[in-house]
This record gives sequence, structure tokens and C-alpha cells, in this order.
Amino acid sequence: MFIEPYWIETKYVTIESDQIPSQFDGKTIVFLSDIHAGPDFSQDRIDSVVSQVNALNPDLILLGGDYVDGDSANINSTFESLSKLKAPLGVYAVLGNKDPQYKTLNAIPTYGITYIGNKGTWIVENGSRIRLGGVGDYNNGVQIPNATTSVVTPQDFVIMVTHNPDYFPNVDKSKVDLVFSGHTHGGQVTFFGLWAPVTHSDYGNKYRTGVIEENNSTLIVSNGIGTTMLPLRFFARPQIIVVELKKT
Ligand SMILES: [Fe+2]
Repeated sequence: MFIEPYWIETKYVTIESDQIPSQFDGKTIVFLSDIHAGPDFSQDRIDSVVSQVNALNPDLILLGGDYVDGDSANINSTFESLSKLKAPLGVYAVLGNKDPQYKTLNAIPTYGITYIGNKGTWIVENGSRIRLGGVGDYNNGVQIPNATTSVVTPQDFVIMVTHNPDYFPNVDKSKVDLVFSGHTHGGQVTFFGLWAPVTHSDYGNKYRTGVIEENNSTLIVSNGIGTTMLPLRFFARPQIIVVELKKT
């Protein structure tokens, strides 16, 4: 309760693909998820996470939802902090199951962040592009993946953000190359990182944390930043995920 929730790990993952354009070779993506701002996660702590992320100089920042723990009173202060995130290719966000929809959807653009729930966009660098999109929350929303995938060719590198990793089996892996999720908190309390009794996933420990490959598509599940229900973590350290894109 007093150590592990404060002990943020920066986890580095390299994603190699011949579909990554040379203009994106070496670009870095930071994925942040599950802040759950509230009594157990103060604005000072969010500010400190934002400073840690900016110090990594990411090119692109993706936010995976559950910004607050259900209380809309914390939304504006949370996004005021998140508005200080800096990335030349932009900051993009989806919603999680704990985000009050109306107020969060208002706050996201107000604080200079681009909402990609059920939307797709091209990220362009020196005339080359990759596709980025997201879906609505698997429990509380609808998922319209075509917004991301309908315009892509097999040569395009495609990234999708879904708060809940349980959506991964439904992802069209012939089109989507890289998926980011949170929601599980790595189980939050685990038996030394090997197995967790509660994962908030229908698939048990399969999508609990880490890098999972299926049919040529990669799912990265973050342990997230905050805690839910109890301010506890055990062998499921909070994480900032840093992905480096590598052209092969
Ligand atoms: Fe969640």
C-alpha cells in the first residue's frame, strides 16, 4: 500500500515490422492508462507522472482510459494535468469503463487531446503515414473498428487502442498490427507476478499484462498507473509503457 503503488516502472517494448515506414523508424510511443484519479491518486501524483512521460521525449502519446475512478468531480483537474503532456505527433485518448462519458468527452478536446474512440486518423510524418484508431469501451460502449480499418491497405501499419484487452479476440489481425490496452492493472495483487486471482478479464490471466502475440498482431497490456477498489499493488507495479517502432 505504501511502496508499490508509488513505484512506477518504465517498460520498454520494441515493435519490429516491415510495414513501419522509414520516416517512423525509431519513433517512440508512450502509452498511459488507468490513472483512476481520486482520493487514492492526487493531482500532484498525476503531475509527477506527466513530468516523467515528458522527460522520455515521446513522439506520440496514447491514453487508455479510466482517467478517474467514476467521480466526475475529478475530471477537469485530471485533464488539466494531462494537457501538459508533450508529443510532436499528438496526444490521443479513448474512454474506459470508469470514465463518466459526457463530462470526459467534453474535457478531452478542451484540454488539447484528440479523442479516438470509434475514430481513426492518419499520423503523418514527412509524407509517410501510419493509421491510428480506437474503439469504445468493451463493457460500457460500442466498438466500431471500421472507423480505423476500412481505409487501410495490407501495407499500412495500424495501431488500435481499446481500454479492455478482452476486445483483442475481435480485432481484425489481418489489418491491425499493434493494440494497446489497460484495465486489468496487471491483476493489481498477484502471486509474485505469476498469477492473479482477480484480473477484470473474461480470459483470466491470458491478457493480464505484458506483450501477447496472436496471428501476427501484438497486444500490449499495461498494468496502468493508479489503483482501483483498494490502494494496493503486489508484484504488479504501475507502468509507463514506451514502444519504439523499428522498421525491418
Ligand atoms: Fe477499466
